[in-house]
Amino acid sequence: MDHILLLYLNVFLFWSCTASPPNFILIFADDLGFGDLGCYGHPSSLTPNLNRLAEGGLRFTDFYCTSPVCSPSRASLLTGRYQTRSGIYPGVLYPGSRGGLPLNETTIAEVLKPLGYATAAIGKWHLGVGANGTFLPTRQGFDEYLGIPYSHDMGPCKNLTCFPPDVKCVGLCDVGTVTVPLMHNEVIMQQPVNFLDLERAYSDFATQFISKAVEKETPFFLYYPSHHTHYPQYAGPEAAGKTLRGKFGDALLELDNTIGKILTTLENTGVITNTLIFFTADNGPELMRMSRGGNAGPLRCGKGTTYEGGMREPAIAFWPGIIRPGVTHEIASTLDILPTIASLSGAKLPQVMLDGVDMTDILFSHEGGKRETMMFYPTDPNEKYGLFALRLGKYKAHFYTRGATHSSTTPDLACPVFAVLTAHDPPLVFDLEADPSENYPLRLEERPDLQDLLERIKKVKEQFEASMVFGESQLLKGEDPDLEPCCNPQCHPKPVCCECSPKAV
Ligand SMILES: *[C@@H]1O[C@H](CO)[C@@H](O)[C@H](O)[C@H]1NC(C)=O
Ligand SMILES: *[C@@H]1O[C@H](CO)[C@@H](O)[C@H](O)[C@H]1NC(C)=O
Ligand SMILES: *[C@@H]1O[C@H](CO)[C@@H](O)[C@H](O)[C@H]1NC(C)=O
Repeated sequence: MDHILLLYLNVFLFWSCTASPPNFILIFADDLGFGDLGCYGHPSSLTPNLNRLAEGGLRFTDFYCTSPVCSPSRASLLTGRYQTRSGIYPGVLYPGSRGGLPLNETTIAEVLKPLGYATAAIGKWHLGVGANGTFLPTRQGFDEYLGIPYSHDMGPCKNLTCFPPDVKCVGLCDVGTVTVPLMHNEVIMQQPVNFLDLERAYSDFATQFISKAVEKETPFFLYYPSHHTHYPQYAGPEAAGKTLRGKFGDALLELDNTIGKILTTLENTGVITNTLIFFTADNGPELMRMSRGGNAGPLRCGKGTTYEGGMREPAIAFWPGIIRPGVTHEIASTLDILPTIASLSGAKLPQVMLDGVDMTDILFSHEGGKRETMMFYPTDPNEKYGLFALRLGKYKAHFYTRGATHSSTTPDLACPVFAVLTAHDPPLVFDLEADPSENYPLRLEERPDLQDLLERIKKVKEQFEASMVFGESQLLKGEDPDLEPCCNPQCHPKPVCCECSPKAV
């Protein structure tokens, strides 16, 4: 307790000395599994900068995203609300999607804007583009944006270069759509994007953004959702061929290099002790890519499933002098980042139903977390089925299980797409403390002592579902090829005419 008080005092002193609330840097990796980082046990990943964050910061063992796929997970991260409320379901947004994260949802950037924060997003947005850029980051509280507004496999990639000197991207990217664009704010700078130079562009942009904010004595929020580690992997000359883990490892190293450059910028500008860096990922590994997919470590299945491998993620909080190094086993979630940032900055919470809770206590004392439950929706949630699973304390109950294409090729028969939807009544219950791999369902019929637990699970599920109002589905609004971003809007025939020689970024 003394320790917590001391830390609150520290934060307060910082404020009063610098007259500046803390800066926030939120880094969101793509399709990165629980077992992909050295600090979570991987033997051949090369991530010196993430290791530095883990060794000098707080590492979470029980941190969850809210969806086993990209767009819904990002919606929850930025709003502190389950994706079902904002309508980012079923599945993910595409280049020509009509919908996007509704503009009346309040993002972390919008929470911080009234306090005068400078805000920027770099990388994979994936919350919609829409007609005339209706749903781009610049419409959701971010002053600036540089990035590909959706997944970088959502456009033909066969002829694109993913590794130097001219190694083509592998595999099946989406054909029949425009090639992936690089946008600055709402303007297309390159189409197709130059993957080999992308990280350099992102690093330079991050450095300039941070330096500019510090110069103006403005607190800042930098959101960097990286494309790296999502298929098809790519890396420029500084990372290509530099790891023992092949293409996936090289891509991860390139993300790590950028984190290193951000740390150097924070040191050079003198704000590293007034900046919280939070790192986590959007969903579990895409196991169907085998050596080019990630690794869930000891957890079951991966992307697309509501097993632990699909939604439990590496997470690290780093704030030298404020967050003491260590490991926490408290349950926490991407939902909790918005309320935590609001609490640390003194910002007002949006006046909506929030699913996140303030996790400041966990950051400061490694315990005392307020979250006892975590809800698991599938990639295609609906009111009829409701939750697929829920975690209550150390227990996890599955009401439905199903495999996924993204998790195919694993030997575990529960993971591939052939594992059809199966209802469980009573639910399959696992003790995640004893059995984090969800291998051994508890034998409820032989355990009268667990009847109370079953009752509690049932009650928590009912209460939660009664509080859930599904927002209108943004994905069911469909797609319109005319909405696909095109650097040459009037050209013909689309999509192939949407190619422009790169502008410098
Ligand atoms: C946003 O607007 C829609 C449509 O009017 C409404 O259904 C929804 O509840 C609103 N969401 C918020 C967070 O206010
Ligand atoms: C997009 O903007 C252009 C130019 O301002 C306008 O003509 C067009 O109607 C807009 N499209 C939509 C769907 O709003
Ligand atoms: C790749 O380039 C070849 C030769 O220019 C062309 O015929 C083919 O259509 C291109 N493929 C894609 C998917 O863009």
